[in-house]
Amino acid sequence: MVQTMQVKTQPIPVAHRVGRPPAGHWDFGGEREPLMHRIHAYPAKFPAFITQKAVAYAKERGVTVNRIADVFCGCGTTALEAKRLNTDFWGCDINPVATLITRVKREDYQPHWLKTHATRILHSFDRRRLPRHPSQQDDERLRYWYDFDRIRSLARLKAAIESLPEGKYRDFFLCAFSNILKPTSRWLTKSIKPQVDPDKDAADVRAAFDAQVSFMIKAATQSRHATASKSEIQTGNFLEMDIPKPFADLVITSPPYVTSYEYADLHQLSTLWLGYTDDYRKLRYGTIGSLYHDTDFLQDVKKINQTGNDLVFRLYDVEHRKARATARYFVDMHRTVKQCRKILRPGGMVLFVIGNTEYKGVKVDNAAYLRSCLVQEGFSEVETAQRKVSSKTLTPYRDTLGRFSTDATSRKVYAEEFILTGRNP
Ligand SMILES: C[S@@+](CC[C@H](N)C(=O)[O-])C[C@H]1O[C@@H](n2cnc3c(N)ncnc32)[C@H](O)[C@@H]1O
Repeated sequence: MVQTMQVKTQPIPVAHRVGRPPAGHWDFGGEREPLMHRIHAYPAKFPAFITQKAVAYAKERGVTVNRIADVFCGCGTTALEAKRLNTDFWGCDINPVATLITRVKREDYQPHWLKTHATRILHSFDRRRLPRHPSQQDDERLRYWYDFDRIRSLARLKAAIESLPEGKYRDFFLCAFSNILKPTSRWLTKSIKPQVDPDKDAADVRAAFDAQVSFMIKAATQSRHATASKSEIQTGNFLEMDIPKPFADLVITSPPYVTSYEYADLHQLSTLWLGYTDDYRKLRYGTIGSLYHDTDFLQDVKKINQTGNDLVFRLYDVEHRKARATARYFVDMHRTVKQCRKILRPGGMVLFVIGNTEYKGVKVDNAAYLRSCLVQEGFSEVETAQRKVSSKTLTPYRDTLGRFSTDATSRKVYAEEFILTGRNP
């Protein structure tokens, strides 16, 4: 059902006055997602059809969509869909693993070259002399996740990939490498918290890489798409980016949730292996929604509006730490809205996909808060629609490891989320 709320609208030209989409509009897409969307696991990825529908929605309302931006681009869902629509794309994410996957999805590859490089890499892997003691063997964190043989094999594989010249082909194989790092480790499969599975039979490095590369070549071949559209993908904190002038017509994004996923922790195997940091915890800094920020609660609550304050203080009654993190999250979401306004050209549109959460019986209504920020920052035609999230209907509760739980005091994950839209006047 499309939920309507009290909306403040600016007068718009008659030609562009379009009714709200029917109930269920945002629930399902019409086509199967291209395989390219599945080349790398990523938490809280949104369905690809949202981009297609968002573009149609914006165009129906008179927006000329020449450039799409995703300010939290994650694993590049919007980037790939923008490419399929022959539309320019600008994306950013604070996590270098996210921008690696996004770059790979946005590129076009010659299948012949992919196969040739894949054969060479495996050949080099098989023949390469084993370093007696690869440097990775001294990394305590890696030793925690892998047995000695796998560290040696992964080090050998990485060296084989890095013998390719820098560029899109090397990135393609580094992305494949990144996606086998969890299956070949002791990481508890599908866990959203870093947790060792003592009974896990970790995958063989060579076999996992071979299968992953075959899948990715199939995906890249299916997604071959001559496009003249351009893309720019930046690794960095969106909140701290200097935006001298507007450059986008449509922002399509899904912000991080508060304290649900620690992206830096979840991507630690990739960031360590790919050398993005010597300590994955450094990447928590600036990541919106992290529980680990040094916060000044009193300053934060002063910065957030009444809607945010009401939510934070209800949470404060049940757990101070969550309330502090939520206050900082709300400050950051407000800054996000301000930054989005800066990047949007006049008449442009923003579309957020956002879910609510519940903690110890207190509902954190992220959608209501974000909506209040959009109105406060002068966006017009602010609309909220509800969409069903089919995979979350089994049981709404998750334990601290993110596993399904029937315990109603656990974290609640809703079976619906919200599409919020607003127009830059
Ligand atoms: C919900 S995910 C986006 C998923 C994406 N829509 C997809 O389909 O893959 C949110 C993303 O925000 C990123 N993020 C968190 N804080 C950020 C910041 N300050 N600047 C830029 N990106 C940030 C996280 O790294 C994460 O990839």
